[in-house]
Amino acid sequence: MLKVAIFQFSGTGNTYYISQRIQEEIRDKRIICDLYSIESLKESNHLVDHYDVIGLGYPVYGSSIPRIVRKWMDGLRFRTDKRGFVFCTQMMFSGDGAAYAARILRKKGYKILEQEHFNMPNNITDYKIFRSKKEIDYEKIERKNTKKIKRFVKNILLERRYLKGSNPFSLLLGLTQRVPYTFFERRMMNHAIKLEPNCILCGKCVELCPTKNFVIKDDSLKVRNRCVLCYRCINHCPVQALHTNKKTLVEKPYHGPTAQFKIRDVMMSDLLTEVIDELEL
Ligand SMILES: Cc1cc2nc3c(=O)[nH]c(=O)nc-3n(C[C@H](O)[C@H](O)[C@H](O)COP(=O)(O)O)c2cc1C
Repeated sequence: MLKVAIFQFSGTGNTYYISQRIQEEIRDKRIICDLYSIESLKESNHLVDHYDVIGLGYPVYGSSIPRIVRKWMDGLRFRTDKRGFVFCTQMMFSGDGAAYAARILRKKGYKILEQEHFNMPNNITDYKIFRSKKEIDYEKIERKNTKKIKRFVKNILLERRYLKGSNPFSLLLGLTQRVPYTFFERRMMNHAIKLEPNCILCGKCVELCPTKNFVIKDDSLKVRNRCVLCYRCINHCPVQALHTNKKTLVEKPYHGPTAQFKIRDVMMSDLLTEVIDELEL
């Protein structure tokens, strides 16, 4: 029986939401599909062994891949016995956002069946140019993505290749964002998070951060140099004490793609019992 695993990283919930919908759609076809959170895994090659098809999902950052996902991909072994699919979430456009990771997976031997982009709400809430005045329309998000996910899954299962972003125009568009973003990432990202004096030391950022970028020591919050710019801490700080932009503080944080969304869910992996047994976890 076909077994599918989706490995995903999601800073603020959009990618997790799409991953879960894809998982549900695949399971509806009576196919095993497990969902893993990249941030909760140290090593994935043992897990990959158990599946026929490997999916990768991530949020696009400047048409690039979040650092935490790149690191995860670096750890993957070369293998030619796996099929794969890649999807990314974005607020507007990314050119070759999914094709970029697909190229890396192809170099690792994977046969890529599908690449797709899903437009989701913006999670950058400390830059005025990105601020939207409209309330988030959860029904619209659901409506808009349902059809696309059905088509995406159908194509994967029928091995009908649809490779979004694999054309010269998309590559060029991607490069116009990726080149400046990579420069910014190298130069400034480690020191990206700014802390305001109104911090109440609640420890939420310490708990939520996927890279353990925060520690509370001597009655103050210390920010280490491990930020991957996922915006989770910024959007979930209860007093809006965190941001990346000296000029603008967060006014309206982004709390995820559904009204009942729980941010802690994005950190969890869905482990198959048989896999746990074999790994003797
Ligand atoms: C650092 C950063 C860079 C981003 N760059 C882009 C981009 O180049 N194009 C785009 O459409 N959205 C961009 N976004 C928006 C996110 O990709 C989008 O909101 C995504 O769905 C967030 O997913 P998540 O909730 O799973 O983290 C960026 C967000 C962040 C935090």
